[in-house]
Amino acid sequence: MKIELSGIVQEYPAPEGVGVLRVLDGVDLTFEEGKLNMLLGPSGCGKSTLLHLMGGVRPLGVVSPTEGTVLIDGEPCTGHHDDVVMVFQRYLNRPDLTVRQNVAFPFRFKLWRKKVPKAEQDSRVDEMLEAVGLADKAHHRPSQLSGGQNQRVALARALVLRPRVLLADEPFGALDAQIRHEMQVLLVDLIARFPTTVVFVTHDITEALILGDRVVVLSTPPARIADDFTITEARPRSENWLRSTEGSQMAARVIEQLRGGHGPEGGGQVRVTV
Ligand SMILES: Nc1ncnc2c1ncn2[C@@H]1O[C@H](COP(=O)(O)OP(=O)(O)OP(=O)(O)O)[C@@H](O)[C@H]1O
Ligand SMILES: [Mg+2]
Repeated sequence: MKIELSGIVQEYPAPEGVGVLRVLDGVDLTFEEGKLNMLLGPSGCGKSTLLHLMGGVRPLGVVSPTEGTVLIDGEPCTGHHDDVVMVFQRYLNRPDLTVRQNVAFPFRFKLWRKKVPKAEQDSRVDEMLEAVGLADKAHHRPSQLSGGQNQRVALARALVLRPRVLLADEPFGALDAQIRHEMQVLLVDLIARFPTTVVFVTHDITEALILGDRVVVLSTPPARIADDFTITEARPRSENWLRSTEGSQMAARVIEQLRGGHGPEGGGQVRVTV
């Protein structure tokens, strides 16, 4: 499923109450079918805003986008799209439901009950629990799981719908390094089994280079595309590749953009773990 963003400008009311805050300043981006696209940029540059525009999430009381168009498979995206799902750093699992019920939750909606026969709903839920390694925790509650396991539940719930687009807003950002690495491995495995177009926001350059078919970097606000490159190295990518000339040159060019091209003092929050 192809996503085309053209001339996207997003302005919000300025925090001081006078004038506007221009966040996105003419973003043109096309995401091709079936790729893992990583989106980076300094804190506050509008990454979540861009993801919300693609996910059909519109802020209350704000025209969104201010200018430009979002097309999904050639059709204007003006609200929620059935084939597009989002996952967040806060995984939004319901504490009153079991793991299995959380994964099956989308099938409570009439639309999905109609689209997917009951027997297939059950088999998909079982398949997803197995795929994320939580089959033995099906009857646990989210409070009995770790952060990483909760994020597995959220990923299973997203992919149980077999979405054609998965929008991920720093889904592993709150996890410690070892668990984050496990989740990256899991994501690559899940995408291979359940192919979908992914746009994945991260602060973590290593994560971007380990996962991405493509890396898009936004500039400091008002944000434009500061860099955009593809990575052809096959996954899984090793530490050695990250440290290779190619890997370290890619890391260096992203770091430079995240610093706003102004050296070590500028830009937003940057995490590099190479
Ligand atoms: N609904 C809104 N109303 C007013 N301002 C907003 C709204 N949503 C976002 N903003 C502002 O727009 C800017 C960009 O926000 P956004 O959340 O898209 O950035 P981000 O790149 O995802 O940041 P982070 O890296 O911290 O997650 C911020 O200054 C934010 O305060
Ligand atoms: Mg954000």
